[in-house]
Amino acid sequence: METIHTVAWMKQVVAQACREDRVIGLVPTMGALHEGHFSLVRAAQQQCSPVIVSIFVNPKQFGPAEDFKKYPRTLEADRVALAKHAVDYLFTPSPEEMYPKGFRTAVYVEGLSERLEGRLRPGHFRGVTTIVLKLLEIARPRLAFFGRKDAQQARLIRQMARDLNLDSEIVVCPIVREPDGLALSSRNTYLRGAERQAATVLYRALHAVGQAVAAGERDPAHLLVALRQVVDSEPAVTLDYAEIVDADTFEPALHLRKVCYVLIAARVGGTHLIDNALIEPTAESWNVTL
Ligand code: PAJ
Repeated sequence: METIHTVAWMKQVVAQACREDRVIGLVPTMGALHEGHFSLVRAAQQQCSPVIVSIFVNPKQFGPAEDFKKYPRTLEADRVALAKHAVDYLFTPSPEEMYPKGFRTAVYVEGLSERLEGRLRPGHFRGVTTIVLKLLEIARPRLAFFGRKDAQQARLIRQMARDLNLDSEIVVCPIVREPDGLALSSRNTYLRGAERQAATVLYRALHAVGQAVAAGERDPAHLLVALRQVVDSEPAVTLDYAEIVDADTFEPALHLRKVCYVLIAARVGGTHLIDNALIEPTAESWNVTL
């Protein structure tokens, strides 16, 4: 595996791969890699060669009161793990390389960026779409891989790719969870002692929605009551939002008619966690995927 720190060198490598008509795959990350990230790497390797993984803790997607400074940085361990996974290139630029002095441009997906996670974290999605567009322009992947764990982020990136006629196809992969259901996240390393157990309440709440759907409940308002009951049973956890939204518009779903997401965000101690479940119609019923 080759580690690349500059945009210029990354672009040269990409240009050569394009001349050879190779199918480039990109997995953008902020590092502190875990099985969720590696599942994206494996998905990329099934369809692409070379596979580029980027590690860049993007300052523009953190609010002033957020955890940019303390965000886990484990570059050396990440590098070793990516080499073990036979990744071709690790692209890990410095902040100055990505945002040189005088940088002034931002990309913003209107509407979708302002709800839910965007309302909780003003400016967050502007930072995400700006860096992801830069990474897609630099790496020029045929396919770029994202996790359904960050469902709103994936939806926004798809919208950006469509609106700006990008050549990259956005692939969204399943959520990887711990055995007790907690969705893997670099931020899970912040959880201390009892917080780690309390954090499983997001999964348990989504699971309760799945059970209610299986029992025949179809009213999103009632499903959210079932979800909140579970969250309320965990005093260490503060719910930021819980919504059932149309998977396309991310507007609240008043009925189960089309594919929906159950989105949940909560704080455990000082740690911000998100999770979601996918509700899809089947021939005779509804399927809930956690
Ligand atoms: P990061 O949180 O490092 O996540 C990188 C990718 O891994 C994202 O697409 C995310 O959805 C996916 N991912 C995280 N946890 C996952 C899990 N448990 N299962 C499956 N996939 C998971 O998301 C970002 O970084 C940044 O916003 C980024 C897109 C890199 C832009 O800076």
